[in-house]
Amino acid sequence: MYLSATNHRIPLSDGNSIPIIGLGTYSEPKLTPKGTCAKSAKIAIDSGYRHIDGAYVYRNEHEVGEAIREKIAEGKVRREDIFYCGKLWATRHEPEMVRPTLEKTLNVLQLDYVDLYIIEIPMALKPGDEIYPKDENGKWLYHKSNLCATWEVECHPYFTQPKLLKFCQQHDIVIIAHSPLGTSRNPSWVNLSSPPLLRDELLNALGKKYKKTAAQVVLRFNIQRGVVVIPKSSNPERIKENFQIFDFSLTEEEMKDIEGLNKNVRFVDMFMWCDHPEYPFHDEY
Ligand code: A2P
Repeated sequence: MYLSATNHRIPLSDGNSIPIIGLGTYSEPKLTPKGTCAKSAKIAIDSGYRHIDGAYVYRNEHEVGEAIREKIAEGKVRREDIFYCGKLWATRHEPEMVRPTLEKTLNVLQLDYVDLYIIEIPMALKPGDEIYPKDENGKWLYHKSNLCATWEVECHPYFTQPKLLKFCQQHDIVIIAHSPLGTSRNPSWVNLSSPPLLRDELLNALGKKYKKTAAQVVLRFNIQRGVVVIPKSSNPERIKENFQIFDFSLTEEEMKDIEGLNKNVRFVDMFMWCDHPEYPFHDEY
């Protein structure tokens, strides 16, 4: 598959296509100044990104909409050039809630459609307006939902997902890898038992060989095997850096060596919800 900065959409089985790299936009709302996400999304579009990954629950979706609309108004892109993925949060899983929740997202974005709408996590929390519902004793309020849907999957050299990838490729299903750089390592929801991915010796040695960073090597690794990546960054230089992955390629042997780094341990294990009856990570994928 030939991928370039201007042509890096990969086909989906329904005839649509998805750009293989997208900008991740989650950033802890309490620690992120207003306007950061709009700025990052505009820099990303100017740098060549055509895919933005967001969610209502990130509380900055209006800024993504602002950035896309501004770039359309400037004539930089058309709506159909942009791929936006929105997400249904865990408190909105009831079937009758899906449409109004999507409409809320469209309203916030001030766009007519999203290109992809996915279930954010496959565990439901008590339906309602409270995003993180707990009872008066601080216990999480879980909810039973009937889920038979796809879900985005963590994927990077320390968690390469060979079985799932093979299954999906056999069935023409594209994987979108969240946390492709190994996350921001926020201890409240990340398992820190694996060392920081970007400090890995092999990844850094390969970076040196290609005059790239370890981050660019891990992103290249995934796109070279057809996995869509959505690295988040609010840093203008890193947003641009993460897109400079179309001008080099890894050899077959290097791809195998990177696969060999797999530790089969998730960073994002959401252990705080491990007693949820539908906690997904007790199962093998
Ligand atoms: P920053 O926004 O300061 O660049 P996620 O797992 O949500 O995709 O988060 C990725 C994390 O990696 C963020 O903390 C982001 O921080 C950081 N990051 C993004 N791009 C790079 C890069 N090229 N090199 C090192 N760290 C990066």
